[in-house]
Amino acid sequence: MRIDMLENIKKAADFVAEKIDFTPEIGIILGTGLNSIGELLEDPVIISYKDIPEWKASTAPSHQGRLLAGKLSNRGIVILQGRLHYYEGYSMQDVTFPIRVLKALGVEKLIVTNAAGSLNEKMIPGNLVMINDHINWMGNNPLIGENRDELGIRFPSLHEPYNKEYIAIAHKIAEDNNFSLQDGTYLALSGPSLETRAECKMLAKMGADVVGMSTVPEVIVAIHSDMKVIGISVVTNLSNIFHSKAHTQEEIRDNAAKAKQNLETLILELFKKI
Ligand code: HPA
Repeated sequence: MRIDMLENIKKAADFVAEKIDFTPEIGIILGTGLNSIGELLEDPVIISYKDIPEWKASTAPSHQGRLLAGKLSNRGIVILQGRLHYYEGYSMQDVTFPIRVLKALGVEKLIVTNAAGSLNEKMIPGNLVMINDHINWMGNNPLIGENRDELGIRFPSLHEPYNKEYIAIAHKIAEDNNFSLQDGTYLALSGPSLETRAECKMLAKMGADVVGMSTVPEVIVAIHSDMKVIGISVVTNLSNIFHSKAHTQEEIRDNAAKAKQNLETLILELFKKI
């Protein structure tokens, strides 16, 4: 029997919608080490991914695997604490299923965050980077397969996946609050092995500023779903171009924590201004 994607999305969205009494407008995905942003919501409805029909569990370290729904600045917000990655063995459709569900719930604006390694000497651990473009180097695409016209068009344009107006708003927030915010190109690889030195050199030459193992599939599906997208990378380590040391999960988490305050300010203000 053909598994109907639309039915699965509806089942999951109905399950979440039944537990909340508002229509969410903004969705945000929290990457590695960034769970604490979830504390911005007071008294949220909390739902574990494993309880949502058809939604896969989050197995990556420091990805809590919970959906938080609540209001902030009078806007309905859904926070995804932790994401699903391609390297966990999930299909691209599974990885991006949460975006489909957010859209079905009414979310029109998506903020995607991630931890990333830097390929650009100006972007150092603890810095925030506004993603203004991306390179899909994962060797796959979540839109491969039958297109469901109810969800989006066959060939969505990615000429400007990251909303320019929102990027300008973010820069104003950074300026007003006195923290550094640079623009950059995010490149996604499948992982889970980290890049070799030769790969890092190649990726930098290709035009990437930061590298990670997520975000791009979610953004592709968000654009397919006609959402407005903001992407923020937290630089958690320098890549192997700059040194030759192994990166540890502790290093990545510690540097993500360094960016916590600025990221919280940025996100809180974006909730008010987008
Ligand atoms: N490479 C890939 N993914 C990452 C990195 C990195 O250096 N840092 C955090 N996520």
